[in-house]
Amino acid sequence: MKNLKSIFIFAFALFFMFGCKQKPSIGLLMDSLQTERWEKDMNLIEENIKKLGGTCTVAIANSDAEKQLEQAKEMIANGVEVLIVVAVDSKKACDIVTYAHQNYVPVISYDRLIKNCMLDYYIATDNIEIGELQANYLSRIKPQGKYGIVGGSMIDNNAHLLYLGQMNILQPLVEKGDIEIVFSQYSDSWSLHEGYKITNNYLNKDGAQLDAVIAGNDVLAAGVISALKEHHMEGKVLVAGQDAEMQAIRNIVAGNQTITISKPIESMAFAAANAAIKIAHGKAPSDMNLTINNGKHLGPTILLPAQVVHRENIKMTVVSEGSIEDWGSK
Ligand code: GAL
Repeated sequence: MKNLKSIFIFAFALFFMFGCKQKPSIGLLMDSLQTERWEKDMNLIEENIKKLGGTCTVAIANSDAEKQLEQAKEMIANGVEVLIVVAVDSKKACDIVTYAHQNYVPVISYDRLIKNCMLDYYIATDNIEIGELQANYLSRIKPQGKYGIVGGSMIDNNAHLLYLGQMNILQPLVEKGDIEIVFSQYSDSWSLHEGYKITNNYLNKDGAQLDAVIAGNDVLAAGVISALKEHHMEGKVLVAGQDAEMQAIRNIVAGNQTITISKPIESMAFAAANAAIKIAHGKAPSDMNLTINNGKHLGPTILLPAQVVHRENIKMTVVSEGSIEDWGSK
């Protein structure tokens, strides 16, 4: 009987030790929720981690890189085993990776690459391809004309990848003399004001002509459209954005925006949650399909494809996928 009791206590202790350990603790560091899409990413990552048997702690840095580092330190002190990071600043976030590694915590860079460090994993949409899709769509409609580029935030590596993609398509047309790039500028932040300011500065010039604008995302595109409105040019200039935001879909329906780009957020969020849980269990994620150079080393990566959303395929894309409901079709 005494033996049975000690076996029971031993089994209980084992269950307690390993039973507790079986719930991996994942930390999710978000930049900000200013852009509509990030709330969806955050909720889906959290849901998937829970479904896969883990716990998820979330912190939002409100665009403050120093704060994000502090949040990472706090999460590590509280025992997270893996960090998923949407970096505020692609370069400064290197300090998060270094600190995490000093504490044996691996880091997954989500949708934005953290540069120049020994990053563990990178899961994103192919941002060069997004830039190519934007430029390709617009230049097929207007193979000749004056183009403006409103780039994304300078401190976000995605802005630079988008530009590479856009120029992959535009450069040969510029060299042929068919397209002239009349303005091209990175933004200080992914804000409406930046899109407005950059476009308006150009349109205020005497005799300014414009046929198309490629914007880094839909928020910047909304700024572009308000500058066009001020100059009575809305609907006459092609505009490309990114993120399939509700307002962008309405602008497309109204004829003021030509396209947006929809990212496969469900798949990205699942891939990140799945990788984090595997890593926490001491296994290497098996679905990394690429290696990408972040300036310091080649790291295992998942890059997913994006999709163009235009007036004719809204129903088939964002509506049927359930990303957008009230898009102004009535
Ligand atoms: C970028 C991302 C875009 C957009 C932007 C602003 O990193 O690629 O999809 O959301 O941030 O938040």
